[in-house]
Amino acid sequence: METTEIVVGLDIGTTKVSAVVGEIDADGITILGVGNVPCRGLRKGVVSNIDWTVRSIAEAIEAAQTMAGVEIRTVYAGVAGSHIRCQQSDGVAAVSGGEVTRQDVERVLEGARAIPVDADRQILHVLPREFTVDNQDGIRDPVGMSGVRLGVKVNLITAATSCVQNVVRCAERCGLTVADVVLEPLASAEAVLSEDEKEIGVAIIDIGGGTTDLLLYVDGGIAHASVIPAGGNNVTADIAAGLRTPMGEAERLKRNAGCALGRMVGDEEEIEVPGVGGHMPRKAARRVLSDIIEPRVEEIFAVIRKRIEDTGMLEQLSAGAVVTGGGVLMEGMTEFAEEILGMPVRLGVPVGVRGITQLVAGPQYATGVGLVQYGANALAQARALTPVTLDAGHAGRAEIRREKLRERELRRDVVEEMTIEKRSSGRFWNWLRAAF
Ligand SMILES: Nc1ncnc2c1ncn2[C@@H]1O[C@H](COP(=O)(O)OP(=O)(O)OP(=O)(O)O)[C@@H](O)[C@H]1O
Ligand SMILES: [Mg+2]
Repeated sequence: METTEIVVGLDIGTTKVSAVVGEIDADGITILGVGNVPCRGLRKGVVSNIDWTVRSIAEAIEAAQTMAGVEIRTVYAGVAGSHIRCQQSDGVAAVSGGEVTRQDVERVLEGARAIPVDADRQILHVLPREFTVDNQDGIRDPVGMSGVRLGVKVNLITAATSCVQNVVRCAERCGLTVADVVLEPLASAEAVLSEDEKEIGVAIIDIGGGTTDLLLYVDGGIAHASVIPAGGNNVTADIAAGLRTPMGEAERLKRNAGCALGRMVGDEEEIEVPGVGGHMPRKAARRVLSDIIEPRVEEIFAVIRKRIEDTGMLEQLSAGAVVTGGGVLMEGMTEFAEEILGMPVRLGVPVGVRGITQLVAGPQYATGVGLVQYGANALAQARALTPVTLDAGHAGRAEIRREKLRERELRRDVVEEMTIEKRSSGRFWNWLRAAF
């Protein structure tokens, strides 16, 4: 790669909008600028007020542009919320030239996404779990392998179309083009997980303001994704109600003195609780604050534990869990998570970028930085596919047509062969009928 490219991640969260500008070159990603603006336009990860959200996006983009000294036109935007679902699918395709190419992989993934989805939902991601080439299974990257038949098992991430459209609409109202809409924990995972962790099995838990997002990696691929509609804002609301103090003060108390594990707080420690409705501030034991916080945090981690158990993959998470998102900044969070999840837990902060990294060093920037990394990967993959898909002139297009014909012939051969092998599979017959 000789030139540099600008990739911008736009994390539209329940509490804040972060715009992160990255410059991509042969050496990796350099963070050039960041814009962080509080946002009140979302509820539980989903846009609920377009105008407020648009205003925060415009301000965040403006701040990031000024810092980076570049004009931002295109962004990779995040999406979350309890409308997100994960379902399994599979696909099969003939290998065109006896050796699996990136185009073959694209084609088999296209096949895997061709399943009925509710009219009000759309597919966000097709995430390969494993490939098979002829009779060999468990393959991570089949490109370059010899064979005639390529199969894939995938997880499909689907989202409510209206929720995705609202994210896109908000960005477009700021004059931006959305290159892609990305599941937020998928972006966070790009920023905080190592390849080793993904390989040996890991859970990433992103505790934001409105949602807690869970993603499981097993054998290097994504095995489960779900979103729990509770996060740091629930903790703040509990504090406000329990100590009868305004939400703003409850948030301040949580950030300055909050602790997720009551036993980590000394009996003599005190906090000052501001009064509400003209009442005087009063002193209270810090333990009172942690007694309010602890049950809510316990509830969130207990739901996570149950979700993990329900997938049947608990034993496969050898690297344990990585917690990220602004909600984990509270003292005692990783210790409490270890206790409830019964596995090693570490704090996940963005890694793998250069430049002004001190501005994106906290776990609350995992999604924003991860969106830039996701965008950089997407550009690299598009470039790898370019020779056939984009650079085809007239002669090229004729060659593609001939290639497609050859492929169709070959596919027919393979299909005949497979029909004999798998006559009993109803699903396979459906695929056959749809494809031919
Ligand atoms: N120092 C801190 N101590 C405790 N909690 C904190 C701290 N800093 C931020 N938080 C909490 O983190 C949460 C916000 O995290 P984050 O910025 O990751 O959320 P978001 O991306 O806006 O929301 P979501 O991802 O749920 O849509 C808030 O609930 C906030 O109170
Ligand atoms: Mg978030």
